[in-house]
Amino acid sequence: MQKELENLRKEVMRDLKSISEAAHLEEVRIKYFGRKGELAQLMKKLKEVAEAEKPKLGALLNEVKQELESTFIDASQKLKGQDNPALKFDVALPDIKPELGHMHPVLQVQRELEDLFRSMGFMVLDGPELESEYYNFEALNIPKWHPARDTQDTFYVKGGEVDNKFLLRTHTSPMQVRALEKYGAPLRAVVPGRVFRYEATDASHENTFWQMEGLVVDKDISISHLIAVMKELLQGIFKREVEVRLRPGYFPFVEPGFELDIRCFICEGKGCSVCKQRGWVELLPCGLVHPHVLEAGGLDSKVYSGFAFGLGLSRLVMMKYKIDDIRLLLGGDLKFLQQF
Ligand code: PHE
Repeated sequence: MQKELENLRKEVMRDLKSISEAAHLEEVRIKYFGRKGELAQLMKKLKEVAEAEKPKLGALLNEVKQELESTFIDASQKLKGQDNPALKFDVALPDIKPELGHMHPVLQVQRELEDLFRSMGFMVLDGPELESEYYNFEALNIPKWHPARDTQDTFYVKGGEVDNKFLLRTHTSPMQVRALEKYGAPLRAVVPGRVFRYEATDASHENTFWQMEGLVVDKDISISHLIAVMKELLQGIFKREVEVRLRPGYFPFVEPGFELDIRCFICEGKGCSVCKQRGWVELLPCGLVHPHVLEAGGLDSKVYSGFAFGLGLSRLVMMKYKIDDIRLLLGGDLKFLQQF
């Protein structure tokens, strides 16, 4: 059998050398390596040899088999390449696709809302994240001594004037006065963007989150306009029935002011960490624009009136997708983000 193996080795080598086209290659493959080919026959024979011979012959057989196979592969690659240079590049190999990212869930919802508001004639504005104390507080009827400043713990930034420091905006409301200054009235605008609070984080608090400010100013604007727009907004976002409640809320830049709460989607009202066991989530503080704000924007508050709202965009996204921890939004965890 050893002899047979040696012969086979020689034979295959000779055959492979003399091959000049791919069709022959296939013949050689079948003849030696096929299911009933010579190698397979030898494998069978191995069973019949004396027990003592088996290990030695088996090892030899394997060695020859491997050698012949790799010579065969080399020969076939050479041949294919010579026949057709294009075949050196295997077009059947799977393509390596670059991984593409996608919009963050907050941005997806933001874009959806922008479309909705544009359809109602609103401008979509962008405002500075580094804001002055004046626009963030003073112009919004929140003077220095006002306790409302305490409810928005603020990141102050070095720089600015003594009486008008720079800070990271604590809400999108500073754009109310900036927009009025720039565009005057009548005005319909929304301002989506990031806001910052110096806060300890937990499942429902973050130091960075998203809001969307809304402002409508015209002659004879009333609470019924406010309610109509809020309803349109909630229907547009949730595409399902939303239970809401309106309660009085205090913000120095609106009068009267309200808090619009929605039934917590995460626990369906039973109580959870997001709604702090209340079953309701504060989503939409709103109200009629305070005359001082209109005046700060350069308007005559006897002629014009308006409403404003400050939609908690991060919270809204959490409700919509049943996300139970706000920290996931900025956590950068791909397993989380890839779900959207
Ligand atoms: N800016 C307020 C906040 O962040 C929300 C608000 C906006 C309230 C507009 C009333 C009107 O808390």
